[in-house]
Amino acid sequence: MSTQTVPPPVVNARRVTTQTLQEMKAARIPIAALTAYDYTLARILDAAGIDVILVGDSASNVMAGHETTLPITLDQMIYHAQCVVRAVRRALVVVDLPFGSYQGNPNEALASAIRVMKEAGAHAVKLEGGKPILEAVERIVTAGIPVMGHLGLTPQSIYRFGTYKVRAQEPEEAEQLRRDAKLLEEAGCFAIVLEKIPAELAREVTASLRIPTIGIGAGVHCDGQILVLHDMLGLTTDFNPRFVRRYARLAETITEAVQHYVQDVRQRAFPSPEESY
Ligand code: KIV
Repeated sequence: MSTQTVPPPVVNARRVTTQTLQEMKAARIPIAALTAYDYTLARILDAAGIDVILVGDSASNVMAGHETTLPITLDQMIYHAQCVVRAVRRALVVVDLPFGSYQGNPNEALASAIRVMKEAGAHAVKLEGGKPILEAVERIVTAGIPVMGHLGLTPQSIYRFGTYKVRAQEPEEAEQLRRDAKLLEEAGCFAIVLEKIPAELAREVTASLRIPTIGIGAGVHCDGQILVLHDMLGLTTDFNPRFVRRYARLAETITEAVQHYVQDVRQRAFPSPEESY
């Protein structure tokens, strides 16, 4: 857990747009992003000054308890996105298109993106992958929907990778990632998530692009950083990759609170007369 005292973030009340992120890159102001999946936590994040909220398909893991991100459906993503959008006043809300909702063909991808924008009121969508999904990206962008890319460790492809280890360590895969990043930029993406790749490669890709990169396990040289909210708050305790910094230990805090409550109920110490009518 970070023990340093940090100053409160400078929160500009203006809505964050894709243009704001571009300006932040130009001004070398790092972009702070986190995931969220529900109203209550999204409201706290937004008021605390987060720039981007990703309604990630990691909801499949942390909200639904699945082993991978593959099972979550488009309807379920839209439900989570609706809850988050209702809470947010300032942050840019990006929603993951789930596995199976865009890989088939560009028209299907566009239909999925339109549902997310119309039914949830999201501000942008995120798709995983490079060259194979370029047409889908172009089709969505042409419809006026901002698209965030995602390269490196793309969890929807976990069964092809076979492992969650660091990607693009070999020259061939690193070169493919450089090419994919350029292609995504040319296809109109407004930003790219770089997940679990060597910091030096992320630095190089970040310097080569006009659009911002948002890193997760990709070192400090990206234009911004993102973490899964439940990991950084210490709500998850069994997932401990080196890139997760725990800013709180909420699993412990909640356990203590619940144990205290159980004890109070057993001992008839709750409710007190003041808490009764
Ligand atoms: O689904 C998710 O939470 C993500 C982040 C890890 C970037 O895609």
